[in-house]
Amino acid sequence: MFSTTKKIGILGGGQLGKMLCLAAANWDFKTYILDPTEGCPASQVCTSHTLGDFNNYDDVLAFGRDKDLLTIEIEHVNTDALRELKKQGKTIHPDPDILDIIKDKGLQKEFYQKHDIPTARFELFKDEKALVKAVDEGKWKFPFVQKTRTAGYDGKGVAVLRSKEDLNTKLLKGACLAEALADIQVEIAVIAAKNPAGDVAVFPSVEMDFHPEANLVEFLLCPARISNLVAAEAEALAERVIRQLDLCGLLAVELFLTKSGDLLVNESAPRPHNSGHHTIDSAITSQYEQHLRAINDLPLGAGTQQVAAALMLNLLGEDGYKGPVRYEGVEECLSLEGVHIHLYGKAQTSPFRKMGHVSITADSVEAAIEKADFVKKHLKVLSK
Ligand SMILES: Nc1ncnc2c1ncn2[C@@H]1O[C@H](COP(=O)(O)OP(=O)(O)O)[C@@H](O)[C@H]1O
Ligand SMILES: [Mg+2]
Repeated sequence: MFSTTKKIGILGGGQLGKMLCLAAANWDFKTYILDPTEGCPASQVCTSHTLGDFNNYDDVLAFGRDKDLLTIEIEHVNTDALRELKKQGKTIHPDPDILDIIKDKGLQKEFYQKHDIPTARFELFKDEKALVKAVDEGKWKFPFVQKTRTAGYDGKGVAVLRSKEDLNTKLLKGACLAEALADIQVEIAVIAAKNPAGDVAVFPSVEMDFHPEANLVEFLLCPARISNLVAAEAEALAERVIRQLDLCGLLAVELFLTKSGDLLVNESAPRPHNSGHHTIDSAITSQYEQHLRAINDLPLGAGTQQVAAALMLNLLGEDGYKGPVRYEGVEECLSLEGVHIHLYGKAQTSPFRKMGHVSITADSVEAAIEKADFVKKHLKVLSK
């Protein structure tokens, strides 16, 4: 239902929260942020910022009390408090029970398995010692991937184990899963949205290229350079996942296209996603507007319609620079047509910190790549 007096609470006030608030402001929606950091990106554009921990039961409960609708920009939040708020009659999207599945990579993988959604073979272990035992018994052979079940992000809970030596140096502690190493041709992300009426809209497939050191997406391209058939398959898979989860809001589904041509679901994120930033500048409906449409029970926008080819470049803090941020080369880049600079408003930079992004729109992906080379050369995140 459309209402400009409804109070929308958002758990998390990072850049995704900021862009969600900016989209909400277009419709005069009131946005309330819960985040522990004074001056966090969303605090600069929301209606009101409450300082508090979105992982703390009491903080989330107190924050939710006077809100009508609650959503998230990060999945690692206190879902017990959200369940209590739901009991009290608040609308919560996505549902806390779904968040609990997604927050735990083990439960997430079991969900895919149970619903016949293709995913890399895996096994859960109660801790890293149990995994080492399975290796000793010959049940898991190198190379394979180890992932921590909870709290991993931006590659931090992921280790590729290639030899016995890696067990001493790279092994991650705690409850984990082992996963077969996929022979990846290209990584793809597809963002789907579902509203309470059950309508689903899917954004076109995006190709993700990773920074070799930082394990962060360095740039992404839309449409992905894959066949129409594979793109349609990936988009259909994303729709299947959001329908099976019965999630209301956005779901970003990360997939691997293997060298033998199979599509595997890697993981999903129940919120706006890095791989949808470009939609602000290149699609008829941005992912942020789409999320607001979905959680407010409004008709979904034309997510599938891109008005231009797009490339998204993460602006990462330059290696070797730490402290108050300074941007170099903005003027040169703005003189180029189709260059859209988004700065998140983080006061401090450090090596590889996500400080902003640049979306480049052009007639073709190739033309966008050319402009990206210029931007990469000139636009730098340094410190004073
Ligand atoms: N089974 C796998 N085979 C090959 N590479 C993988 C596998 N799982 C993860 N990776 C690589 O590690 C990256 C991060 O893993 P992911 O599970 O997406 O964790 P995060 O939550 O940090 O994004 C992936 O984008 C991919 O490049
Ligand atoms: Mg990932």
